[in-house]
Amino acid sequence: MITSVQNVLITETCGLPHLETKPEMPFTRNILCIGAGYVGGPTMAMIAFKCSQYKVTVVDINPERIAQWNSDDLPIYEPGLDQVVRAARGRNLFFSTEIEKGIRDSDVIFVSVNTPTKTFGAGAGMAADLQYWDKTAREIRKHSRSSKIIVEKSTLPVKTAQAMEQILTCGDNGVCFDVLSNPEFLAEGTAVQDLENPDRVLIGSSQTPQGLMARDVLVEIYANWIPRNKIITSNVWSSELSKLVANAFLAQRISSVNAISALCEKADADIQEVTRAVGMDSRVGAKFLNASVGFGGSCFKKDILNLVYICRHYDLKEVADYWEGVVKINDYQKERFILNMLQVMFNTLARKKICLFGFAFKADTGDTRESPAIRIAKRLMEEKADLVITDPKALNNAKDDLKGVDGNVSYIEDPYEAAAGSCAIALMTEWSLYKGLDYEKIFQTMAKPAFVFDGRNILDHPALFETGFNVFPIGKPPLTHF
Ligand SMILES: NC(=O)c1ccc[n+]([C@@H]2O[C@H](COP(=O)([O-])OP(=O)(O)OC[C@H]3O[C@@H](n4cnc5c(N)ncnc54)[C@H](O)[C@@H]3O)[C@@H](O)[C@H]2O)c1
Repeated sequence: MITSVQNVLITETCGLPHLETKPEMPFTRNILCIGAGYVGGPTMAMIAFKCSQYKVTVVDINPERIAQWNSDDLPIYEPGLDQVVRAARGRNLFFSTEIEKGIRDSDVIFVSVNTPTKTFGAGAGMAADLQYWDKTAREIRKHSRSSKIIVEKSTLPVKTAQAMEQILTCGDNGVCFDVLSNPEFLAEGTAVQDLENPDRVLIGSSQTPQGLMARDVLVEIYANWIPRNKIITSNVWSSELSKLVANAFLAQRISSVNAISALCEKADADIQEVTRAVGMDSRVGAKFLNASVGFGGSCFKKDILNLVYICRHYDLKEVADYWEGVVKINDYQKERFILNMLQVMFNTLARKKICLFGFAFKADTGDTRESPAIRIAKRLMEEKADLVITDPKALNNAKDDLKGVDGNVSYIEDPYEAAAGSCAIALMTEWSLYKGLDYEKIFQTMAKPAFVFDGRNILDHPALFETGFNVFPIGKPPLTHF
């Protein structure tokens, strides 16, 4: 439970066992992280929080982001993160734009820069754009005066470590570098919990004596709070590939359920009844079986496309096509959602006010990267609907995402105010707040007939129907008054 993690952290934060007992001790290790984003910030905050004996510095080329990390208003929202950062910041956790100094002073460097999908040239729309990664490798080489362990935290195509090693070792400054792969498996929204108690930590290294020594240094860092049996090691390529495959499997599960949800709607079956029965098979398991409007987030799509690109590169057409299907079903699910709205709202959405409940790609984060809500909002605006968007944490990002899109859109934080006067509510994000709203009160303020399209299947559909709504869940029979 997030709350219990938060409580633990608050308790520990107040206790500050390590930090308070030996503030004057020299740090035993200087750790640097390049890239202060959704991964670099929380990951380093957790290492600093758990290991007061290390100095942890996080650098970024974006001075605004660094200023936010140094303020009371962190650049990302994650339950429990505030407490962790506040406990360690200024003691053994530092955020800075001094990349050169950071590189010079460190002995372990995590690289957590962004690796988006390439938008130009060969592999556009599929391959990973490695320009930030390449630039970072060159910076490290340029400013290093002593040997360092380089840790790939970013998600990267197989064999990137090899490329990095080639860039790093082509200099003549006599500095040695060991490149490790240590992909991050945290999920946004539960990052603090995942970092504090991960299912596993994976470290890939070369199998040479030096590579194994570097690996053991990283194992020691994590072993400060993670049981040894959860820290697993492999060769570098397996480690790099494991991250892509883990995300592909997770996304594939969502697309599998969503594909079946389409069939349920035609066959009068109920996806929740089906997934309950299927998920009770211990070989399948019950997690990650919720039908929805589709997956989002910065990673799933990009990592699968990257996997597809690699498969094509190795002439594995059938394998590539198989995995590409996961992304295609995800697009299909979003389009299906829109076409269903259009059809049941009498084949026109023009000048109808539609309220989106949620814009973040999932609950408990303000992140909207690849959120299904972006596509839904754009398609609704194409249909000339008047949009109102509400979200507890993601409205600023939503404004950026829809900047310049032609159409009427307003942003209102209060869901009651946002829904007033609208013909339909389309629930995009599974924020628990939306489950607890007074839908009778909301119904009174809406235009009639009033619709709810529950893109996450989290609301009480029979109760909404009783209130007077026409209710359209995913993969379940609709409840309508017509
Ligand atoms: N977001 C997630 O949930 C998640 C989970 C696991 C893995 N990952 C992977 O981790 C990596 C980082 O993801 P993120 O979500 O933190 O990205 P992000 O965009 O939030 O952060 C990346 C940061 O790197 C900085 N940066 C880029 N080039 C730089 C340079 N040369 N020097 C210094 N800073 C530089 C950017 O300014 C940015 O602040 C990606 O490869 C991603 O696939 C992300």
